[in-house]
Parts: sequence; structure tokens; C-alpha cells
Amino acid sequence: MRYILAIDQGTSSSRCVLYDRQANPVAMAQQAFTQHFPYPGWVEHDAEEIWTSQSGVVRQVMQDAQLQPDDIAGIGITNQRETTVIWERSSGKPIYNAIVWQDRRTAEDCIRLKQAGAEAMVKAKTGLLLDAYFSATKISWLLDHVEGARVKAERGELAFGTIDSWLVWKLTCGELHITDVSNAARTLLFNIDTMQWDDDLLALFDIPASLLPTVKSSSEIYGQTRNPEIGAGIPIAAIAGDQQAGLFGQLCINAGMAKCTYGTGSFLMMNTGAKRVASSHGLLTTIAWQIGDQIHYALEGGVFVGGAVIQWLRDGLGLFEQAADSERLAGSVDDNGGVYFVPALTGLGAPHWDPHARGAIFGITRGTTSAHLTRAALESICFQVDEVLQLLSAESGTPIVQLRIDGGASANNMLAQFQADISAVEVVRPANLETTALGAAYLAGIAIGLWTIDELNQKWRIDRSFHETMPPLEVELLKRHWLKAVERAKDWAE
Ligand code: G3P
Repeated sequence: MRYILAIDQGTSSSRCVLYDRQANPVAMAQQAFTQHFPYPGWVEHDAEEIWTSQSGVVRQVMQDAQLQPDDIAGIGITNQRETTVIWERSSGKPIYNAIVWQDRRTAEDCIRLKQAGAEAMVKAKTGLLLDAYFSATKISWLLDHVEGARVKAERGELAFGTIDSWLVWKLTCGELHITDVSNAARTLLFNIDTMQWDDDLLALFDIPASLLPTVKSSSEIYGQTRNPEIGAGIPIAAIAGDQQAGLFGQLCINAGMAKCTYGTGSFLMMNTGAKRVASSHGLLTTIAWQIGDQIHYALEGGVFVGGAVIQWLRDGLGLFEQAADSERLAGSVDDNGGVYFVPALTGLGAPHWDPHARGAIFGITRGTTSAHLTRAALESICFQVDEVLQLLSAESGTPIVQLRIDGGASANNMLAQFQADISAVEVVRPANLETTALGAAYLAGIAIGLWTIDELNQKWRIDRSFHETMPPLEVELLKRHWLKAVERAKDWAE
């Protein structure tokens, strides 16, 4: 019996899921790690802690299933994207904490570059926008603020990676410095037409090419593990950014199919096939995956704070103990009581792209309770997703009729129903909600010849579908209030 091991390194936790030959999950372990918020708008992770938590869950799964490295046919890696690590090639030590995708410290740098007229070129080459979300300005910040970093980078002594690169480096004890196209496409340095790191972009952000990993496809055997903490000799067979892996795990394998992952943030992604679809309303064009020489593109809209708003109600306000309690609390009132919560806790992502927006709650009266607040928070996740969904339909020219959902908050029936109501689409929740890890496992299994895409497609199972029931006038009113609230939350921290 041979297994596939999926490493899913997310923003809030490191996870590992073990799959058998039929792609059934057989063991799972998860470990949260520390979030660092040194200043308002800054978000960092300790890259070493990312590794220790990730290797810890891998070891735990192997122990629980009583496996030796030989039992594992391949590892698939999926990861929080854009988060930026720079480490010394000689020692393997990070020069600073990882700067997380949510971090806004380089917002002003992006504004300066925009004012200098750089965004058109950036967008044409990368499909992205000039925003602090992506890796490039985080790399420049590290080179400019960590003592001696720029000089060392110019001497070729440093390596940059998104979290996938960092994990592969650790897994192979520094033998491989690689990434895949789906992660490279999130750096602002990768040209998604030529499929190469781009010299003009490197010059724009003043980043030496020597820092960069080699770019590979998303599904191939790159090399083998060497790290004794995991065990040597396991093939590393797939890498994909977590949203792209989720799209694959949801088997959105044909153009026009779309998924939404309700995680820390909410990420909608539509497969656009071999076609690169441009957006003029704040969506991103990106690479879904490369298998062999076949590239799939995607159109994406990322909402920065999704499930994190529920975490904030739990940890910041102490309204409930478990995130799952939010459904019961929100369901204890008939409606939001006129309360609208714009969870722009780290600015606004798609489609507004306002780094200066901040969280705001509107419509509070003396009758407002924690239940209304919680309901407004849950609804805010759906309102944000709906804004992106309507744009995806309009800009792709393929109206979304079915939205496949996953991620922690997708287990919440109230949220799924509200999404179906306000977006007027069929919302489909699959039986296996671990689609991110599953996508990485699928890509790894394909690389080692365990299964084909057609075979995987037969495995698709629905847990539950949600259909719209709300009268259109009610939907319109809700959306109107939401948009009014969003406009008022903008520009706050400027
Ligand atoms: O682009 C950021 C995204 O990859 C993070 O995903 O699931 O860790 O919130 P998640």
C-alpha cells in the first residue's frame, strides 16, 4: 500500500493529510502557529516555526498511520501564497520573519509606483495589480531594511521564496530552490505569458535575479526529501498555491468552473482554461496550474478577511468560544437588525483594493446584540464574495451558475444559504471539504502515475446544495446597504 502525503501550509495553521491509493483521507494532523502583529497593518510569521509546525504534523501523521518513508509514494505541497521569506543560502537561516500576504507595510511604496505610472506594465506582464498583497514589494522592503541584506543579495548569498520554496528547501536540506508556476505568478515578478521571471519587473522593484527560485510545473517529481526530521527518499511530486490547489481539488478542471474557499480570507477562482482573461475591475489574472506543458489560467478575486472576522469576534471580542458557535448565535435572530460589518481589518482586497480601508460596523442601535453583530459578520463574508462573484461572471463572459465551496466556514449552513440567496447561484458543498490538501494530493498522484484527471473526476461527491429562496427585492436592499457601508469604510487610515 502506498500513500500520498499532502502538506497544506496555511496562514493560520500547518496541516498534513494522508491519502490512500483511492485518494481517501486516512490520517490528518494540524497545528496552529504564532501570528505576529508588530505594528498596525503588519503581519509576520516566524519561518522556522512554520517549518517546525509543518514537520511536526507530518511526523505525527506518519506515526499515527505507522508509516515509514518508503510507504509514501509522493508529497504534494500547497501553501499560503505571496508570503515572503528570505534566507541565507549558506546557513539556511531566515534573515527576518516571513512577511505575510496580509501585511500592508509596503502600501505606500505601491502607491508611489502607481503614481509613477508603473501599473499598466505590471498588469500586462503579471495579470496582477500593484498592491502590497504580492511578494515583490515585501522582498524590496526586506532588502532595504535588514542590515546588509542588499549587499548579500547582490553577492548571491540570499534566497527568496514563497512558503512552498521554503518548505522544499527545508525538506531537501537546501538541495532544491524551486517554486511552481502558480506560486511564481503571485510574486509580481513572473511574466505569465513568457512563463519566465521578468527582467523589467526585477528592475522596477530593484530585486537581484540571484535571489529567485527555479520555476517548475505544478505536477512533476522535483526531487526527494533528505531531511531526517521527515525521513529521506520521499519524492516531492507537486506544488501549488493553496487557492489553485483548492480549484483543482474541487475538480474545477474545465473553463468556466468556479470555487470559493472560505478560509482566513475568502478566495474565488474561476478556471479560464488555456485563455488568459484580463480584468478591468480589480480581479486578478493568474495561473491555475501547469501539468506537463498544459497551462490553465484563472480569474481570481481575493477577499482579505473572511473567516478571520469570526476569529476576531471570538478572540478579539470574546463573543463565543468556538468559531462553530457563531452559526447558532447568528441564527438566534431573524435578521441582521440593520447592522452591517465591513471587515476591512487589513484593508480591502478585490474588487476595491483599498489598503487604507479599516473595519467598521454600521447601524448599531440600542437593540443591537452580539447575535446581530455575529450575523452581520457572517453576512459580510458573503457580501464580499458576492461582489467578486458578480464581477467574475461579467468579466469572464461565463456567468457562474454553480459555485463549489470549501474551507472552514463552508460547513456553516447559514453562510452557504445566505450566499445562494444573495448571489442567485447554486452553492454546492462537496463531501470532502479538505479540497486544498486534496488538490495537492491529486497533483502529486498524477505526477507519479497513480491516477488520471478523468479518474479523479469520477470521485466528485456532493454533500449538500443550496438554492436561492430570498425575494429579489430583499436581496437588493441588503446589497444596497452593504455597498453604502463599504464606501464609508474606505480611506480611513490614509
Ligand atoms: O493569497 C493568500 C492565500 O493563499 C491564503 O490562503 O487559506 O491561508 O487564508 P489561506
